[in-house]
Amino acid sequence: MKKAEIVIHRDFQIGRIDRRIYGSFVEHLGRAVYQGIYQPGHPEADEEGFRKDTLELVRELKVPIIRYPGGNFVSGYNWEDGIGPREQRPRRLELAWRTIETNHVGVNEFASWAKKADSEVMMAVNLGTKGVDSARYLVEYCNHEKGSYWSDLRRSHGYEEPHNIKVWCLGNEMDGPWQIGHKTADEYGRLACETAKAMKWVDPGIELVVCGSSGSGMPTFGDWEATVLEHTYEHVDYISLHTYYGNRDGDTPDYLASSLNMDNFIRSVASICDYVKAKKRSRKTLYLSFDEWNVWYHSNDDDRRIQPWSIAPHQLEDIYNFEDALLVGSMLITLLKNADRVRIACMAQLVNVIAPIMTSGKGGAWRQTIFYPYRDVSTYGNGVVLSPVIKSPCYDTKSYNEVPYLDSIAVLNEEENELIFFAVNRDLEEEMLMEADLRAFTGLSLVSHTVLENDDLKAVNSEENPYNVLPHDNGKAAVEEGRLKALLPKASWNVIRLKIGNKE
Ligand code: AHR
Repeated sequence: MKKAEIVIHRDFQIGRIDRRIYGSFVEHLGRAVYQGIYQPGHPEADEEGFRKDTLELVRELKVPIIRYPGGNFVSGYNWEDGIGPREQRPRRLELAWRTIETNHVGVNEFASWAKKADSEVMMAVNLGTKGVDSARYLVEYCNHEKGSYWSDLRRSHGYEEPHNIKVWCLGNEMDGPWQIGHKTADEYGRLACETAKAMKWVDPGIELVVCGSSGSGMPTFGDWEATVLEHTYEHVDYISLHTYYGNRDGDTPDYLASSLNMDNFIRSVASICDYVKAKKRSRKTLYLSFDEWNVWYHSNDDDRRIQPWSIAPHQLEDIYNFEDALLVGSMLITLLKNADRVRIACMAQLVNVIAPIMTSGKGGAWRQTIFYPYRDVSTYGNGVVLSPVIKSPCYDTKSYNEVPYLDSIAVLNEEENELIFFAVNRDLEEEMLMEADLRAFTGLSLVSHTVLENDDLKAVNSEENPYNVLPHDNGKAAVEEGRLKALLPKASWNVIRLKIGNKE
């Protein structure tokens, strides 16, 4: 049996977790909004038309912040279309996804929904077809209390209290030629800078995310970040990163190592931020917003067959399998490993569209396989991330050398007096013994060891069989003489919680 060793110490810390790294994303795309969160007439609809079954699952995930309304959608969006009486709202050709947007849900409804979901809104403004005015008016509409045109208009629409939206994205993926209103780094950097200034003049309490590259594989990656930050460094608080992976050629060991690419991406962007900081002799550190990340590839072929100009079609409806959940677990571990720099992250997306939650228009809502690692980390990943020294046997793949079979991170939750390990065993053939040296902690006892495992890497959950892939809590872990000894089944996602006793 393979064996991996971990050493941690309570004083060797990476950083305190900002819970906003457990954020998500709802775009006006496919059935994310319509039939996902909003479906008047459905048996589960509440008085505002929001689906209660979806809300319940979102609350179970404990999502602290949700990016809205796009995505590619936002680059052609007039937010004014989605306010005021519903019957007067225009139906528009939506160019990003080639659908009809009815505008039945807009910023006010989404803010109401987010409150019901115990979450906050992270609002994106349109810097594709729009600019400074549209963005500053939206901040005024959402955040200014009263006594001005846009704030009084909001009040006249029935929303007396401001929405107080704290985090705002300056456009979306502006480096991508597919983006409506795609720009060069200089064009975008100048526009983002001027928009940022005006938005913060309206509400100095907001935080701003500037667009980084839409992926580390973009030909402009690196130069894009450096140029955009040259223009905006002192006016923004975060730079965005996006990434999606897929097991396109059926090479699962390689696929499960994709989180190494994500880690490298994060480190590269942090270095570029620090390069600009040095050039500008700035005292400010820029943080990262990994505001789109997930697996996305299962639905690619189906999406090519969608009829244009339909309303809320089945679009980007990836059905996730068990191996996807393992990679999502590793991506969450990667975010935690970089908790000193990543302050916001959004699993893209939340409902129906590349999502952990699925709904059926006529039926209920259920959890996809990737729901479980997300829920686990959002529930138990609170406190401080400890910097582990890990010795693990490794394997080689087509894309990566030296991939450790064990991927793991430890979190110290001082409030609950708990030490939590999240771990993926990437070995598809054998279980692994994970041993952790915990001499820096006293009186440890095991609370639980839950495991997500399945003999079939391609197993999925569906409306008919929603509990096919499900975690169990019969993991084999024990604490013996200051050491944690845990058996991690082959190809598994593990959460091990330990109670810390009183200091001797
Ligand atoms: O999340 C789906 C799409 O992926 C988003 O609209 C876009 O920003 C990214 O390319």
